[in-house]
Amino acid sequence: MELTNESKVIDEARQGEATVVTGENSSGRKLYIESYGCQMNFSDSEIVASVLTDNGFSTTKQMEEADVIFINTCAIRDNAEQRIRGRLKEFRAAKGKNKDLIVGVLGCMAERLKTKLLEEEKIVDIVVGPDAYRDLPNLVAEAETGQKAVNVQLSKEETYADINPVRLNSNGITAFISITRGCDNMCSFCVVPFTRGRERSRKPESIVAEAQELFDNGYREVTLLGQNVDSYLWTGGGLKKENPSKEELENATNFAQLLEKVALVSPDLRVRFSTSHPKDMTDDVLYTMAKYENICNYIHLPVQSGNSRVLEMMNRGYSREWYMDRIEAIRRIIPGCGISTDIITGFCSETNEEHKDTISLMEWVGYDFAYMFKYSERPKTLAQRKYEDDIPEEVKGERLKEVIDLQMKLSDVSNKKDVGHTFKVLVEGTSKRSDEHVFGRNSQNKVIVFPKENYKPGDYVNVLVQDCTPATLLGKAV
Ligand code: SAH
Ligand code: SF4
Ligand code: F3S
Repeated sequence: MELTNESKVIDEARQGEATVVTGENSSGRKLYIESYGCQMNFSDSEIVASVLTDNGFSTTKQMEEADVIFINTCAIRDNAEQRIRGRLKEFRAAKGKNKDLIVGVLGCMAERLKTKLLEEEKIVDIVVGPDAYRDLPNLVAEAETGQKAVNVQLSKEETYADINPVRLNSNGITAFISITRGCDNMCSFCVVPFTRGRERSRKPESIVAEAQELFDNGYREVTLLGQNVDSYLWTGGGLKKENPSKEELENATNFAQLLEKVALVSPDLRVRFSTSHPKDMTDDVLYTMAKYENICNYIHLPVQSGNSRVLEMMNRGYSREWYMDRIEAIRRIIPGCGISTDIITGFCSETNEEHKDTISLMEWVGYDFAYMFKYSERPKTLAQRKYEDDIPEEVKGERLKEVIDLQMKLSDVSNKKDVGHTFKVLVEGTSKRSDEHVFGRNSQNKVIVFPKENYKPGDYVNVLVQDCTPATLLGKAV
C-alpha cells in the first residue's frame, strides 16, 4: 500500500521510497547523504550526520557541491539492492566531474557485501556497516589519501546512546528514537540478522532524555524504533543476558515499562513505536497503551502469512491461532486501535490453499493498512540454505496482486468507517496538494487533511472527518 503524499515516514522496506537527508549549511567540507530502507536507516543517517558535523563537515542538499557522498543502503529484497546499484552508476558521472569526490556505501548492503562491494562497484571508496559509524572520520581520512577504506565490524554493545542525532529533513514535530539495534530472531527469509547483528537494547535513561530534549525543542511525537520493540530489555547492559538472575530481572526495564517512562515525559508528547512482533507482544504493553492517552492507538503487527505451516517454515515463532489471539487482545484492551501488517506472497513451497489462508486472515482482521511483498530470496538466510525458491515469479505476482486488491478494499472500508467521527489530530505541516490545507495524523496513524485556518505544525486539533480518498481522510476542525 502507498503511504499518502503527506507522509513523512519513508520506509523502503515497505514502500520503496528514498529520500535525501540534509541539515544546515555551514563552512567546511560538505556531505551529501541519501537514505534507503527502513526507518532505522533514516534514524542512523542522523547519527552519521552528527558524527561528521562534529568533525568539521556540513551537510548539503546539492549533490554537485558535495566533497563526500554517502548512500545508506538496504538489503531486504533484491530489488532494494538493484536500486542502489542504479544510483551508484549515477554517482559515477559526479565522480567524473570531481576526481576528489569520495563515495561511501553505508548500512545493510555494505554489511552484506563487505569488500566484495569494492570489487563490484569501482567508484566506491568507503564501505561501512551499521555498527561502525563512529569510525567514519578515520575512514574518510583514509579515503582522502587515495586508499579504499572498510569497516564492517558488527558490535555487541554499540547503540550510539550518547550521540545526539542531527535531525535531518525534519518537520520539527515528529522524530525517531532507536531503542534497540540488531535482531536475534532468525526469520528464515530475512537478511537483517546478518546485516545488523545481535539485538542490543539501549539504556532507558538515554531514551527518555532524548524524548525530553525533543519535547523541549518543540517536537510533539516520537516513534520508538526496533526490529522487534517487544523484546526490548535493559538488564544493566545492552546485550540480553542468557540467564538473568531474579534480582536482575526485577531491576530490568522491559518494553511496557519503557513505553510508560517515555509517555510520562509529557501528556502532549505522542508516543508511537515500530515494529511489534506477534510472538513477543504482551498484554502488559497493551494495558500500558490503554492507560496513557498520548501513547497512540496504532500497532503495526506483521503477520507475513496466514498459514501455520508457512509461518513455521518462516521460523516466525507463532501460529495463525496465536496471531488471532493477539489481534483479539488488541481489540479487547484497546478498542478502536489501528492495525496494520506486512505480508509476503509466494514463500518457498506455499500452496494456493495456504495463500488463501493469508487472504482469509486479512479479511478476518480487516487491516487498516498493509505493506505487501513478493518473496525475494536472500543469500545466507535459512530459507536460502534449506528451501527451494520454487514458486514461479508469475505466481508470486498473482498472489501479490490478490492481496493488494483485497487490502485496497479493506482500507477503503476502514476509511469509510471513520467518516462522521471526530479525531484528535497532531498537525505536521501544509498539505502537498493545497496551501490552504494542513495535514496531520490521528492516534490510529491515519493522515487527515483539513482547512488551514490559523493552525500550525505542532497544534492538536479536533477534526470531524467528512470524506475520504483511498489514502487520506478529509475533514474540518470542530
Ligand atoms: N522486524 C520486522 C520486519 C523488518 S523487514 C518484523 O519482524 O516484522 C520489513 C518487512 O519486509 C518484513 O516484515 C517482511 O514482510 C518483508 N521482508 C523481509 N524479508 C523479505 C524477503 N526476503 N522477501 C520479501 N519480503 C521480505
Ligand atoms: Fe527480520 Fe524477523 Fe528480525 Fe523482523 S524479526 S528483522 S523479519 S529476522
Ligand atoms: Fe533494509 Fe537494513 Fe532496514 S536491510 S529494512 S535497511 S534493517
